Amino acid sequence: MPKELIVVHGPCTISGTIHVSGAKNSALKLMAASILGQGTTTIHNIPNISDISVMSDVLTRLGARISREGHTFAIDTTEVNSFETPYELVSKMRASISVLGPLIARFGCARAAMPGGCQIGARKIDMHLVGLEALGVQFDVDHGILIASTPAGLIGAHVMLEFPSVGATENMLMAAVVAEGETVIDNAAREPEIVDLCNMLNQMGAKVSGGGTSSITIEGVPLDSLHPCEHTTVGDRIEAGTFLTGGALTGGPLQVTGVDPDYLKMAIMKLRAFGCMVETDSSSITVSRTGDLQPTDIQTLPHPGFPTDLQAQFMLLAALADGVSVITENLFENRFMFAAELMRMGADITLEEHHAIIRGVSHLQGAPVSATDLRAGAALVLAGAVADGTTWVHDIEHIDRGYEDYVGKLSCLGVDLERIIEA
Ligand code: UD1
Repeated sequence: MPKELIVVHGPCTISGTIHVSGAKNSALKLMAASILGQGTTTIHNIPNISDISVMSDVLTRLGARISREGHTFAIDTTEVNSFETPYELVSKMRASISVLGPLIARFGCARAAMPGGCQIGARKIDMHLVGLEALGVQFDVDHGILIASTPAGLIGAHVMLEFPSVGATENMLMAAVVAEGETVIDNAAREPEIVDLCNMLNQMGAKVSGGGTSSITIEGVPLDSLHPCEHTTVGDRIEAGTFLTGGALTGGPLQVTGVDPDYLKMAIMKLRAFGCMVETDSSSITVSRTGDLQPTDIQTLPHPGFPTDLQAQFMLLAALADGVSVITENLFENRFMFAAELMRMGADITLEEHHAIIRGVSHLQGAPVSATDLRAGAALVLAGAVADGTTWVHDIEHIDRGYEDYVGKLSCLGVDLERIIEA
């Protein structure tokens, strides 16, 4: 496929109403979980993004049959007969590793290439392995392939995660649903996408309680008592937060629909600290602003703390605020690559290890920039929308991984932008 870039002609106002897609980080894991129930599981509200295509390919290679109508996927896992996820797919997307738990649950063994994904840090999987080992899984590595086996079966255990890792919590959950006896995951991740997964697992016949708290209890059930189900993916809080940032940048009003405001409590608190007005109802959030953007300090933390996936977008707000803000990134060590690109557009940022000191400027200037990862890419397009002149955002395949029709949606909100093929 020819490489494309996004060209944005600023400055624009970003306002109106936009409906967010289903959450990428939920949908990927819900698709993996479908392996657990033999038959056809139907999942609604799956976003049309390239990471989902990779997960579809992973499941198809395992033997699943997927038919798709709009945002609804019917995944027939009856003939899943392979437990090996090949390198060429796993290397494209770290989240491919989330089939590990379901495969071990279904076959007692699995083979998976070590994962790739965004270049935003070391992103190890040691906690996935420690958690699964506690359930009786043995691991070997052979030429980059992780080989999992369960010589004595899966046995429930009490496990304290060293850090509330989203992926490790999910992999443990999806294996523990069929482990003998009770499993307790302490210091579990509390993200809304974990709750979504717990809900779907329970619909499939699993016995999971405590999803959304830091202690999840799983009462193991026999594999053959798990069955397919019908489930709707929750709205994407990160996509919602990204568009809200756009509204906050130019004053809005901007409304996002299709997302529970409870998922974004900390981001909403920070928008208010930046000087925005934010109103919510059960499934929508509206942001507007009349005064200057106020400087605001932020530190990223596991949910319900401020999400690392909104760090770049909020750094853009800080870059245009009236004063100095400090952003501390606690999750991914390489996630300040965005700052270097934003500085090319005139932002004044100093990086000190995992702190960014941002001195607000009054204007940004359009420039050629590069999407260093998914969220940075989305934020650079927003930066282009408020900058003076034209911005060319390269490497937009990162944006396509997680944002459905980003250009089309921003265009509906008044941004003057287009995708073009790179010369
Ligand atoms: C998920 C999200 C990602 C989000 C992140 C944190 C998906 C597909 N991706 O990623 O968008 O930014 O949660 O909210 O859902 N770590 C280890 N060892 C492990 C596991 C993690 O050291 O075994 C470290 C990671 O390198 C990282 C931190 O823990 O520094 C957080 O990782 P984790 O919560 O596992 O994130 P992901 O599940 O990879």
